[in-house]
Amino acid sequence: VRRLLLIGIGAGAPELLTLEAIEALRQVDVFLVVDKGEDKADLAAYRRELVERFAAPPHRFVEIPERPRDEEASYEEAVAAWHARRVSALEEAMVTSVGDGECAAILVWGDPSLYDSTVRLVEQLVARGTVELEWSVVPGISSVALLAARHRITLNRVGRSVHVTTGRLVRDGLPPGLDDVVVLLDGDTAFTTLIGQGYDIYWGAYLGTPDELLVAGPLDEVAESIVQRRREARQRIGWMFDTYLLRRRDA
Ligand SMILES: C[S@@+](CC[C@H](N)C(=O)[O-])C[C@H]1O[C@@H](n2cnc3c(N)ncnc32)[C@H](O)[C@@H]1O
Repeated sequence: VRRLLLIGIGAGAPELLTLEAIEALRQVDVFLVVDKGEDKADLAAYRRELVERFAAPPHRFVEIPERPRDEEASYEEAVAAWHARRVSALEEAMVTSVGDGECAAILVWGDPSLYDSTVRLVEQLVARGTVELEWSVVPGISSVALLAARHRITLNRVGRSVHVTTGRLVRDGLPPGLDDVVVLLDGDTAFTTLIGQGYDIYWGAYLGTPDELLVAGPLDEVAESIVQRRREARQRIGWMFDTYLLRRRDA
């Protein structure tokens, strides 16, 4: 039997690794690395740094080449086809590069339960029945937990709910009654579509890293400065990771 650990590594700093994650890193023979291309090279280097610091040699790295998404199909079809190709790549790596009895791992940014497809990939691999696999998930500190901690806020107000979504869905328009909304994966400042609607924003970029940026305040007043800081940081650093909470003020 081969083992596969999905290890949540926290969203930005080695200090965010849990003791369970460190214990898991120490068991790994093969680190499966998904090659995401050069723009995220910093993140790949960061993963290697964690392995060097916390894993117990001997271990090896096996690269799983990233399969590009199909541009023509609908969004859902393109994602499904892309996932199937990624499952095949993972399957091939598990069969050819991980021996029976060995332990492989995928290091997942933040927490594996939040906007990450690795759990679904492994479910699909298991469903194929081609590789006998024991697998488990180690939780990590997500960017959302970090955002709340840095701003010293709770995500929910007393007895109320929180909605977690993406920038794309915010641009499509928030359904009524969603007054506390956490947004990830916003490539394009979707919060600007909500100016003038009574929201406060708690924004964080590069959370946990030395480049961390935080802005909080009434959306109408701080949106422009967030847009500018985002633009400036993206130019300087080469990529951008930001997360925010939108909170509608009670009437
Ligand atoms: C593919 S999702 C992965 C989320 C991850 N599983 C987690 O638990 O945070 C990537 C998005 O997470 C958010 N994110 C991840 N790390 C972040 C960080 N250090 N600072 C701010 N946002 C971050 C951004 O919204 C980014 O677009």
